[in-house]
Amino acid sequence: MSGTDTWVLASHNAGKIKELTDILAPFGVALKSAADLDLPEPEETESTFEGNAALKARAACEATGLVCLADDSGLAVDALDGAPGIYSARWAGEPRDFGRAMQRVQDELAGASDRTARFVCVIALARPDGSVSHYRGEVVGEIVWPPRGDAGFGYDPIFRPEGEDRSFAEMTSAEKRALSHRGRALDLMVRSELRSLE
Ligand code: IMP
Repeated sequence: MSGTDTWVLASHNAGKIKELTDILAPFGVALKSAADLDLPEPEETESTFEGNAALKARAACEATGLVCLADDSGLAVDALDGAPGIYSARWAGEPRDFGRAMQRVQDELAGASDRTARFVCVIALARPDGSVSHYRGEVVGEIVWPPRGDAGFGYDPIFRPEGEDRSFAEMTSAEKRALSHRGRALDLMVRSELRSLE
C-alpha cells in the first residue's frame, strides 16, 4: 500500500475512531471518520462478519475514493450455534440495553455444560481499485454469571477470556486491548498493510 495518506474509518463510534487514529498516526496516515465525511450508515444485510464489514468499507470507499476501513464484531457462543454473532447489537434491542442481552445469553444457555464463547472482530479494508482485504481476530473464553465489573461495554461483564480470572469488564482498557478480538484484528491489519509504510 503506498501513495495514500488519508484513510477513512466507516464508523461513527468515537472510541473506535480515537483508537485507530492513534494506531495510524506513527505511519503517517491520517484518519477521517464517517461522521467527518457525513457518510450514510448502510444497513448490515449480510450473514457473516466478513460480509457486513466489507459492505460498510466498500460503501465508504465508493463514496470517498479513499482507502476505507470498517469492522464488524460480536459474541459467538458455541452452545448457541454461534449466536448472538452478527446479531450481538440487535439482541440489546432499541434503545440498547445490554443487561437484557446478557440475560438472554444466560437464559438460552440454561443447563448447558459447555459455556465456551468467543468474541470475533473482522476488519475489512476496501481500496479504490475495488479490492478488499479481511483481517479476523478472535478471543476464546467462557460465559460467566452473574455479570462482573463495570468497565468496557456490551457483553464484557459476562465474558472471561481463557487463562484469566477476571471478566473483560474487570480489566483496564489496555489489558483488554492486549487480549481482545479487536486488538488482534488491528494487529494483523497493521502488520500486513502498514509495515511497508514505516
Ligand atoms: P458492531 O461491530 O459495532 O456492529 O458491534 C457489535 C456488537 O457486538 C456490539 O454492540 C456489542 O454488543 C458486541 N461486542 C463487540 N465487541 C465487543 C467487546 O469488545 N465487548 C463487548 N461486546 C462487544
